[in-house]
Amino acid sequence: MPASVEPTTVDPIRNGSAPANTGTDATRSAPGAKALRPHAEDAFAAELAALAAQDDRPRPARWRLSPWAVATYLLGGTLPDGTVITPKYVGPRRIVEVAVTTLATDRALLLLGVPGTAKTWVSEHLAAAVSGDSTLLVQGTAGTPEEAIRYGWNYARLLAHGPSRDALVPSPVMRAMAEGMTARVEELTRIPADVQDTLITILSEKTLPIPELGQEVQAVRGFNLIATANDRDRGVNDLSSALRRRFNTVVLPLPETPEAEVDIVSRRVDQIGRSLDLPAAPDGIDEIRRVVTVFRELRDGVTTDGRTKLKSPSGTLSTAEAISVVTNGLALAAHFGDGVLRAGDVAAGILGAVVRDPAADRVVWQEYLETVVRERDGWKDFYRACREVSA
Ligand SMILES: Nc1ncnc2c1ncn2[C@@H]1O[C@H](COP(=O)(O)OP(=O)(O)O)[C@@H](O)[C@H]1O
Ligand SMILES: [Mg+2]
Repeated sequence: MPASVEPTTVDPIRNGSAPANTGTDATRSAPGAKALRPHAEDAFAAELAALAAQDDRPRPARWRLSPWAVATYLLGGTLPDGTVITPKYVGPRRIVEVAVTTLATDRALLLLGVPGTAKTWVSEHLAAAVSGDSTLLVQGTAGTPEEAIRYGWNYARLLAHGPSRDALVPSPVMRAMAEGMTARVEELTRIPADVQDTLITILSEKTLPIPELGQEVQAVRGFNLIATANDRDRGVNDLSSALRRRFNTVVLPLPETPEAEVDIVSRRVDQIGRSLDLPAAPDGIDEIRRVVTVFRELRDGVTTDGRTKLKSPSGTLSTAEAISVVTNGLALAAHFGDGVLRAGDVAAGILGAVVRDPAADRVVWQEYLETVVRERDGWKDFYRACREVSA
């Protein structure tokens, strides 16, 4: 029986061998500078602390919060002392409940859906709420090696002293196992099939053997894994059935109604705008409604009133893209306009999102513009702005 290995919690970047802080060390941020994008557990630290303080329900081993409090963190709510928890995910409550519950079982969680349905977002917030740390992350690509999931070696130490615990560089998954935390794997299906299969032993036996040392890391209670995958990805590696059995799959849907999508876009735009110090825009909501309407109609291939069939462009036109079109529009309005979001501020962004394939998509867009946008009541300014950037 191989001996269990203690977790290594040192950060390899800051670990001893790094030079003293000379002011040019890019691994340290400038004094007093704020992170461009703080991790969820930092950005929402106050909400998480309030939840932890008022949460008297049972918590699974090593969880920071009870499953109920994790769901409240994601879906939003008001605590007994009046603390308002902002909604992170806007969608069916049941989806969040199933996802959270899965993490308390011996099955891992697979979040599946088309691009822009908040898979990454939900995974980050789940890890932050359950483990207080969303950074144990493996980004899946076609080039992800086995070491990124298992462990690697510090070659200087390996050559100097041979294989030893000191020379071993644990992967985020290994650290999560040893510390009873939530690991995340992004874009699981982009990872080559044989590398994906590394996860089978980890998820079924809950152990990670280190044959070079005759040891293993046994997952402690509290460990689980959240993977995300796009079901739109073509030409990527499907999950093997052996691996799929280790996961509970939760499909994240596109927002069901235009109102829900407008709600998501305006909330996120507001948050992003504040983090970029953009001045708050008062009347953006009408423009947001138009962006969402255009995206939904083109995505669904039919106008909202159901009367006109449309061709769909090649891009996905997700909620995430609507968010970025509106955010860019607000930045334009703030820096070059009068601060109010207008058609002219979103037109170029919409064009860029819709016309991915310059030939085919342009035809689709022109047709939509001339047959739908032009005829619509109250959309004259929008039609003009779009014409201007499309010319
Ligand atoms: N239902 C939703 N609720 C809250 N935010 C959403 C929703 N759908 C999309 N978003 C937003 O879209 C953005 C992109 O989502 P992301 O997690 O990157 O998508 P995915 O990983 O599915 O491609 C995030 O900023 C997220 O806030
Ligand atoms: Mg993603």
